Amino acid sequence: NETRGGISFSQGKAKEMNYSPEELTAMMLTHARDFTKDFGGKEIRDCVLTVPSFYTVHERQALVSAVEIAQMKVLSLIEENTAAALQYGKDRVFDEANHTVLFYNMGAASTQVSIATYSAYSGKENGKNKSIGIFEVNAKSWDAELGGTDFDMVLTELFADEFNTQWGKGEVREHPRAMAKLRAQALKTKHVLSANTEIPVKINSLHDDLDFKMHITRATFEEKAAGLLARITTPIDEALAKAELTVEQLDSVEMIGGAQRIPKIQSILGEYFGGKPLSVHVNADEGAALGAAFHAANLSTSFKVRKTGMVDFTTLPVAVGLKSIPKDVGLLGGLFGGNNKEAEEEAMAWNKSTTLFKEGSKLDSKKTIAFHHDYDIACNVSYDASATLPATASDRIAAYNIT
Ligand SMILES: Nc1ncnc2c1ncn2[C@@H]1O[C@H](COP(=O)(O)OP(=O)(O)OP(=O)(O)O)[C@@H](O)[C@H]1O
Ligand SMILES: [Mg+2]
Repeated sequence: NETRGGISFSQGKAKEMNYSPEELTAMMLTHARDFTKDFGGKEIRDCVLTVPSFYTVHERQALVSAVEIAQMKVLSLIEENTAAALQYGKDRVFDEANHTVLFYNMGAASTQVSIATYSAYSGKENGKNKSIGIFEVNAKSWDAELGGTDFDMVLTELFADEFNTQWGKGEVREHPRAMAKLRAQALKTKHVLSANTEIPVKINSLHDDLDFKMHITRATFEEKAAGLLARITTPIDEALAKAELTVEQLDSVEMIGGAQRIPKIQSILGEYFGGKPLSVHVNADEGAALGAAFHAANLSTSFKVRKTGMVDFTTLPVAVGLKSIPKDVGLLGGLFGGNNKEAEEEAMAWNKSTTLFKEGSKLDSKKTIAFHHDYDIACNVSYDASATLPATASDRIAAYNIT
């Protein structure tokens, strides 16, 4: 979408029907809102949504816009693993001794690892002295491009090669309809291979009136997926290094997300953790959603829920730049640069920038910076130059004129 400077999707040939990612997400949210209402019998107005750890402010804001289109209000966003960590902690009683848990989450698109420490403090709850559970996220790491869909693609490619051989008349990859069928079959096959070591695969009349037939074993799948499997432990190495912990120091390893059910992933991780059990105390598919719902109940005034402390942090450092706006350039000139040379030089006269929040800063914290100046000021908030942003992400967060 050139006008908006983003992407948009058009359906079929009707090019005039363009949908932004926000609109498509809003449709899903509307659907979720409607069936939640049918289930719970009440209108849904507020929500808490989970996001991957690596989402930048732009992606988070786009999600908030989607919620607005769906006519709801965002009480908070919470990271997927942090929500699962909350779900893990909410019904448990911890003592003051630290209890350290690693969450391994392989979903459809990405893999995220978080390490959290649980403890307790004595505090007041409903006027009574109680031991209140609290957890703090210590470290996070991820592979934003490693998830279940990548394993589907391994099988899709294998099927396409096999069909090309059986067909002998061309390249099935040039036929989107046939490829869509192959991808759907690949997903199904992957699921069946998690429970069976070999299966026949058949698609009637896949293309050119030819059926697709193949026999596949789990061993072949694992062999073809070796490149992906080699990457599954890297985020754990990184998270442990950041937390300065060893595998032995972990009290529990919790598996969440759907894609970690692939048997080979389980066996590689089992070996990695040296026989430490891969636990599923949190529902692998719904743990994050349940944790987010608990957080929503905590934030909302209409529910009374058990007090649970939660401390999370940001992985991307945020900087602020302040610059005086030359008097004769006016408001917009301050932000986008004036064309008056003298004025520009004058503006350069006062110029300050600093890191506002370092990497690892606690979320939900405020910072005040005080300075004296008698000019109008342009304030630019951006990700710090040291931030490791995705290649396509802008470092700009917000710009304000302080007048
Ligand atoms: N039994 C299984 N064997 C193999 N893969 C499975 C199994 N069950 C689910 N999956 C895979 O899990 C993935 C979905 O997992 P999940 O629901 O955690 O993803 P998500 O949270 O939507 O994605 P993400 O967190 O990456 O945004 C899909 O790729 C699906 O094929
Ligand atoms: Mg997920």
